[in-house]
Amino acid sequence: MAENKTVDKEKYLDEIEDSIRTIGVLTSGGDAPGMNAAIRAVVRRALAKGLKVRGIRRGYHGLLKEEIIDMSARDVSDIIERGGTVLQTARCKTMRTEEGQQKAAAICKKYGIDGLVVIGGDGSFAGAQKLANLGVNTIGIPGTIDLDIACTDYTIGFDTAVNTAMEAIDKVRDTSTSHERCSVIEVMGRDAGYLALWCGIANGAEKILMPEEKDYDEKALIKDILENKKRGKKNYIIINAEGVGDSINMAKRIEDATGIETRATILGHMQRGGSPTCKDRVYASTMGAMAVDLLCQGKTNRVVGYKNGQFIDFDIEEALAMKAEYEEKLKAANKEAELILSDARKTAVHNEQKIIDEAKEEAARIIERANKEAELEKQKAADDVKQQIVAVSAMIASKLIAKSIDESESNAIIEQTLNEMGENTWRN
Ligand code: ADP
Ligand code: F6P
Repeated sequence: MAENKTVDKEKYLDEIEDSIRTIGVLTSGGDAPGMNAAIRAVVRRALAKGLKVRGIRRGYHGLLKEEIIDMSARDVSDIIERGGTVLQTARCKTMRTEEGQQKAAAICKKYGIDGLVVIGGDGSFAGAQKLANLGVNTIGIPGTIDLDIACTDYTIGFDTAVNTAMEAIDKVRDTSTSHERCSVIEVMGRDAGYLALWCGIANGAEKILMPEEKDYDEKALIKDILENKKRGKKNYIIINAEGVGDSINMAKRIEDATGIETRATILGHMQRGGSPTCKDRVYASTMGAMAVDLLCQGKTNRVVGYKNGQFIDFDIEEALAMKAEYEEKLKAANKEAELILSDARKTAVHNEQKIIDEAKEEAARIIERANKEAELEKQKAADDVKQQIVAVSAMIASKLIAKSIDESESNAIIEQTLNEMGENTWRN
């Protein structure tokens, strides 16, 4: 019986795999380093399974314009190490309309695309969900440098972007320290503070401003800058997310209020480019291959995610609904970061004073002990002298006894003996 079940299951899977003949793949929304690795994996996995692959250029915009090309294994050679997306990407207003969605689904059918892999963020997944409702099997792969997809701890491109930003901030810090300036460094993240949060911690920033907490207290910030200066800090780094923005004016306001030279640096789109890190290449490849496998298992309306050390898949609705929870977690994470950063500094200052006080106490104890020892030494030296006088006197006395001489002669003998010993001072 159990054997029959297994045979049935295999047959079922074969049938599903048979029902998927052509897979389409597109990248949508902001590009992210590692998207090419995902495209490559989708193409190669699908071809390995004997499927046809169609690449759709310029996201949903290209789908509606029928910018669809057949893809071979060679088309994805030498792309794993390249930033950006070889399929290009775009934002497309029409796809948000019912009419646009109907048209997109019809085009997929026209091109025989019975499974579509959408690499992008939340917005792109919302589009994929609409297509799934219209009968196109869709799987989303999280691709955004913002890391703002709640169902996953990993999104393609974040690792590269955060490392790019971190290295750039290190460089700004060097010059900021030399000039003893304050620096407002703006990182990407219109709606999400993950880049700011991670850079803030990785770069040891003094303040992190995230879009989730736009109403930061500037007076408190200025007070902190001044206190840090008093404590001898040579720079003050503020990581400001794009969503909070206003970095140039913020720098001016800080300079006016503190008298400390302040500069704004906006890192901008450099954060979205560059060769993907090893992690982005490996995870994106895994997700690309997994998306094809899911489609072949007959799954649709799913998103690939990475949670608690595992690659898993979620229902798109479920994934999109996780947003609110994620924002709360991010705010809590910033509070935690502030504790790590600012409280650690306060503790350090407190500890410094403690160390000085302890050193002073220890020094006082050493001096007291030394004085006591000196006293003892003096006493010991005096006792030694006394003992020697006693010894000398005894020696003289024995001489006197031996010679049976009178008092004046004995005094002279004592005088002579002490002189001989060169210790006249003993008598003082
Ligand atoms: P991301 O995918 O990075 O979140 P966007 O929010 O800009 O980026 O979304 C990318 C594209 O996805 C949009 O330009 C649009 O074509 C499509 N999209 C976004 N939201 C929806 C929606 N609610 N319904 C259908 N398509 C959408
Ligand atoms: O891809 C996400 C993101 O980089 C955000 O961090 C940023 O706010 C936005 O895209 C910028 O988009 P654009 O390329 O349209 O300027």
